[in-house]
Amino acid sequence: MEQPVHSEDIMKFWMSQADRISWQKKPSVAYGQCEDGLNHWFPDGILNTSYLALDQHVESGKGEEIAIYYDSPVTKTKAKFTYSELLDSVEKMAFTLDSLGVKKGDAVVIYMPMIPEALISMLACARIGAVHSVVFGGFAPHELAVRLDDCRPKIVITASYGVEITKIIPYKPLLDEAMHLSKHKPTYVILKSRPNLEVIMHTGRDLNWDELMESAGNKKFVPVSSADPLYILYTSGTTGKPKGVVRDNGGHAIAMHYSMKAIYDMKPGEVFFAASDVGWVVGHSYIVYAPLIYGCTTVLYEGKPVRTPDAGAFYRIIEEYKVKTLFCAPTAFRAIRKEDPEGKELAKYNISSLKYLFLAGERTDPVTYDWARELLNVPVVDHWWQTETGWAIAANMMGDLPLPAKAGSATKPVKGFDVRILDEEGHELKQGEKGNIVIKLPLPPGCLPTLWNDHSNFESSYLSHYPGYYLTGDGGYFDDDGYLFILGRIDDVINVAGHRLSTGEMEEIVAENPSIAESAVIGIDDEIKGQVPLAIVVCKDGIVIDPKAIESDLTHRIREKIGAIASLKTVVFVKRLPKTRSGKILRKTMRKMIDGENYSIPSTIDDPSILDEVMEAVRLKIQK
Ligand code: COA
Ligand code: AMP
Repeated sequence: MEQPVHSEDIMKFWMSQADRISWQKKPSVAYGQCEDGLNHWFPDGILNTSYLALDQHVESGKGEEIAIYYDSPVTKTKAKFTYSELLDSVEKMAFTLDSLGVKKGDAVVIYMPMIPEALISMLACARIGAVHSVVFGGFAPHELAVRLDDCRPKIVITASYGVEITKIIPYKPLLDEAMHLSKHKPTYVILKSRPNLEVIMHTGRDLNWDELMESAGNKKFVPVSSADPLYILYTSGTTGKPKGVVRDNGGHAIAMHYSMKAIYDMKPGEVFFAASDVGWVVGHSYIVYAPLIYGCTTVLYEGKPVRTPDAGAFYRIIEEYKVKTLFCAPTAFRAIRKEDPEGKELAKYNISSLKYLFLAGERTDPVTYDWARELLNVPVVDHWWQTETGWAIAANMMGDLPLPAKAGSATKPVKGFDVRILDEEGHELKQGEKGNIVIKLPLPPGCLPTLWNDHSNFESSYLSHYPGYYLTGDGGYFDDDGYLFILGRIDDVINVAGHRLSTGEMEEIVAENPSIAESAVIGIDDEIKGQVPLAIVVCKDGIVIDPKAIESDLTHRIREKIGAIASLKTVVFVKRLPKTRSGKILRKTMRKMIDGENYSIPSTIDDPSILDEVMEAVRLKIQK
């Protein structure tokens, strides 16, 4: 599908942004077609993202400035890396990957906890033009196997374990299990050993990170085209098959660089703390690439907002590293508020360096918004974005043109995102009218040009619904002042503690239990995690049901296949599911009824008494 071309003004604007980074060969045009047949930003530009994140700072005399503060309350470890030290490690890992046969365009999977080696691995791939795909450590072997089969990496980089509050999660056996399940078998596994855990190594396949680094040389960066992929990041869609979002080098570098100043009001040398995980897009963009490309210091935090060791964890980090901007999911502040509603922990720390709290990943409820703003006494900026875009679609642009904030709104579209609200037929809606949020094509730099090896899925998932527009999958509206309000997903995607998951995939897993005839998994409101899944199931006729056993089996299956983060804990047993006459399960209506929102029952409902029965069963179960 052809992507229309932007107005001349916006092209000039992005070309002026392109002038602010170092290219190996400057682009002569802003936007155009490349060898892969797709339109890309800065099509004839040549650059290297690891050069931008590291070498350029060292070359300009900033080698002794801190690139990373690593702080791990769960292992009681702290470390810092200057730009020169980080560059040296990245050069050595790049050398290692190159000597193991990884070349430009090859995929490398990174399955690691929040340790510096995860960032080193990502930047090492970028250095040689290899395409990394980081898989979040909370995903179970099945999910990892699906990703291995889709991106077919030559190498997987992992660590012996991660630490979750008090328990150890042994990553290596999880990876071994995934490689047993996957059809594609990577040639090598590089393992970063962590203390006090013996790991079984497979001779000939598994290699030790420290030994490889000791004998490695320093690898110079490989110039790549602006359109060449930097990474693939899988995200949940509406089915069990995750979507491999592709990020290209040139557009990404510009978007990262621009956003640091325009949205986050950062200056080079200041400290940015994104309390996310490198396995998510927030981690890619704002733990790794944007702070480093912009010459800031990034905080790599291996811990939680609470219980590591207490609700003052973030305040300690802010004080210790003089953080200017904190970025996290609203769920983190809901958890802090639950444990320390009066903010007693805050009194123990000096957080005067903090200038902003940015929230994203899920809806920020007004109570949490007000609480955080009063407590921290800094602007709280709710901004809206997706894995697909890689940076904010709508935000209060604190470094460009800050606007008065409105609780519940992500403020206004960011420069380059032409956001519209359309009804089902594609008519543009007026201010105040709720509909599907779309972005007029072409998308700005940094957004996905395609899905990995699946351009037709890219077109059918995002572009074909409304020709000329990208479908975000979120519903919302503009108010009379042009502020954008996000109402939630219009598809089967939910957000559990800021983790994007597919209820469609959960239904597929529930169906694997031999007693289940059919099910509806919906995301319902949760005080801390924002949403949690609830399974409403119908068992097959003629079988003896032990609800406790089925509930525990379903909980177990979801943990085994997706991971503990999915947090499916509640199963409601019913005789029938409410449907329309054409057989469509009324998931949205049920969700709204359970969450106490306004709802309308479709006129096409088959038998309204079924809906009443199901709601009664849900009420009884949830009240228990
Ligand atoms: N590796 C392995 N397992 C993981 C994991 C990881 N990286 N992250 C989470 N899990 C596991 C947890 O151990 C837990 O397992 P359990 O059910 O056996 O105890 C399960 O997944 C759920 O974890 P979590 O979602 O973290 O819930 P919690 O109740 O332990 O903690 C919060 C609640 C709010 C503190 C936590 O969800 C949190 O820190 N949220 C912020 C998330 C975030 O930053 N998201 C970024 C998106 S931008
Ligand atoms: P992810 O791709 O994991 O970043 O998830 C993207 C989805 O999270 C979006 O499509 C929204 O549904 C939701 N989301 C992200 N930021 C916000 C926000 N500020 N307000 C409401 N929902 C959000």
